[in-house]
Amino acid sequence: MVIAAAKQSRIRHPLFARIYPKINAFAEAHGALEHRAELLAGVTGRVMEIGAGTGANFSHYPPRVEQVIAVEPESRLRKVAERAAADAPVPVEVRAGRAEALPMPDESVDAVVVSLVLCSIADTPQALKEAARVLRPGGHLHFYEHTRATDRRLARRQRILNVAWPLLAGGCSLVKDPERAIADSGFVIEKARHFDFLINGRTTPSSPCVIGVARKG
Ligand SMILES: C[S@@+](CC[C@H](N)C(=O)[O-])C[C@H]1O[C@@H](n2cnc3c(N)ncnc32)[C@H](O)[C@@H]1O
Repeated sequence: MVIAAAKQSRIRHPLFARIYPKINAFAEAHGALEHRAELLAGVTGRVMEIGAGTGANFSHYPPRVEQVIAVEPESRLRKVAERAAADAPVPVEVRAGRAEALPMPDESVDAVVVSLVLCSIADTPQALKEAARVLRPGGHLHFYEHTRATDRRLARRQRILNVAWPLLAGGCSLVKDPERAIADSGFVIEKARHFDFLINGRTTPSSPCVIGVARKG
């Protein structure tokens, strides 16, 4: 039973797991570091981070955070996250697990954090239901996500690229609307800053982004 549960929590993206640290370093050199700091500025208490990847957020948690429990289903990325946890300014525990079945009791955390992850989760409504389940009443979901474009030409480019993109990018979809999904799951959006994340002044397929905070409804 335990082995079956562990297997279910695994996601294997060996190629993506090898290249994501480099992609992330490139993005951080072009502005993602500031985005991560903005995402986490108001986070306090006990935190659940979903799909932590390499643990790129860990160094940005403010001192008022008591503990972070970070879930990462991809084993190679999880090992990198474990190393990042050791250097984090707040206590971070990295666990195997996936968003659709979070390994945490009901109403056990003050905040849930997702960054660049709702695009990759197969069952987004179930993941958001789980985020609401583990959040205490009035707790907050902090999100930093790329979104489908409102510009018609870019939206069309995203749809065309999305035929192959998820295969190359660990299941990431370019055509999701994470803010809408969060609101549809019963969260109340309190803050959402939309912007184009340009690389050297240029638009990329994942440029349209949003950073925000939503309250458990
Ligand atoms: C683009 S990476 C982002 C990593 C990290 N959050 C960041 O900000 O750099 C997407 C992450 O989502 C994770 N992921 C994919 N499907 C997931 C799921 N069902 N539950 C939890 N994490 C998932 C991947 O393993 C990967 O670490």
